[in-house]
Amino acid sequence: MRHQVCIIGGGPSGLLLCLLLRRAGIDAVVLEQRSRDYVLARIRAGVLEQGLVDILRAAGVGQRLDAEGFVHDGTLIVAHGQRVHIDFKALTGKSVTIYGQTEVTRDLYDALEAMGAPVLHEAEGVTIHGAKGDAPFVTFRHQGQDKRIDCDYIAGCDGFHGVSRRTIPERLRRQFEHVYPFGWLGILSHTAPLQHELVYAGHERGFALCSMRNAGLSRHYLQVPLTDRVEDWSDEAFWKELRRRLPPELAEQLATGPSIEKSIAPLRSFISEPMSWGRLFLAGDAAHIVPPTGAKGLNLAASDVWYLSQALIAQYQGDEAPLAGYSAQALARVWKASRFSWSMTRMLHSFPAEGAFLARMQGAEVEYLAGSVAAQTALAENYVGLPY
Ligand code: APR
Ligand code: PHB
Repeated sequence: MRHQVCIIGGGPSGLLLCLLLRRAGIDAVVLEQRSRDYVLARIRAGVLEQGLVDILRAAGVGQRLDAEGFVHDGTLIVAHGQRVHIDFKALTGKSVTIYGQTEVTRDLYDALEAMGAPVLHEAEGVTIHGAKGDAPFVTFRHQGQDKRIDCDYIAGCDGFHGVSRRTIPERLRRQFEHVYPFGWLGILSHTAPLQHELVYAGHERGFALCSMRNAGLSRHYLQVPLTDRVEDWSDEAFWKELRRRLPPELAEQLATGPSIEKSIAPLRSFISEPMSWGRLFLAGDAAHIVPPTGAKGLNLAASDVWYLSQALIAQYQGDEAPLAGYSAQALARVWKASRFSWSMTRMLHSFPAEGAFLARMQGAEVEYLAGSVAAQTALAENYVGLPY
């Protein structure tokens, strides 16, 4: 088999890249190791920057998003006795859209299917060959047969645990990692969202977040020690703890009910440089991970994919500069968004091991935020997304 671009990984990065390339007439194929149902069962954040919304619309997958997504013009931060409303719209002229990543993925699958794009699920043992030369190819096993795809370029969109990043020789990779000493316990429930906007709560007992998927589906999180296990958290214990971390007037309004999903995720910041090697280009979680505070994971994947799609399109038109500059261009935005995710995490979580000094610094930071339009603008412009 021969295709122009072989995309490894059928998460949001790989699917969006495939769609953008095929819309531009480039023959791309996606190899995904899991089944479609497995990919669609993963629950991830659901805050889309304007930039991503614009890309999805331009790629022809904006209809359901426009009909079902919620536009949020701000968010509420409650911490250290302060209640700070960040008015994105007034401060930056922009908003974010609440629409689950799972729904984005579903829309991408549907669009690819409608155009007959090849998305091969349950591709096993995907291996990259010759990425440094002129004739790269990918081998794998699919439906009981050994297969090979020859291509011009390979896009590594296979997430943090994928094979693509590891194909780049270790001596050429620089990896930067920061592991946070806690995780997020998340539950999904058929309950009304706490407020019409997201509520980020910093509390001495730990961080909490009240988010949503739609008018009848809420997503809530609690900061928990990494030693906690999901089985140890009954729904009742979760709601009780969440109430304790909210100011009384919000705790009173919290609608509770049985969870339909419950999981614990560790928090990490991770960046691997460079994001390209020969004819292999990394995008999304394959190259970087952010902690969920600020919901940048999917949005960063989208900016990578946007840069990469434009660079590949230019390459096929004879302009080689954008592809040569892809890694540096993507990393510049990755570092800024990682800084924002790290600083939001740092401001709102409790770090008991770091003592009273940090807690006071966090208090001072929130107080500064409450009283400074400049500080609120800085938070807002990062939250709605830095320009591409
Ligand atoms: N071969 C083929 N596919 C693979 C392989 C492999 N060896 N390894 C992993 N994959 C697939 C995974 O099964 C997954 O479907 O690659 C996909 C990667 O998807 P994500 O992990 O969702 O990463 P990405 O598409 O970059 O999306 C980034 O989604 O994962 C969230 O937090 C992340 O919000 C961020 C965004
Ligand atoms: C979510 O809805 O899952 C979510 C929202 C905002 C975040 C993180 C997660 O910062």
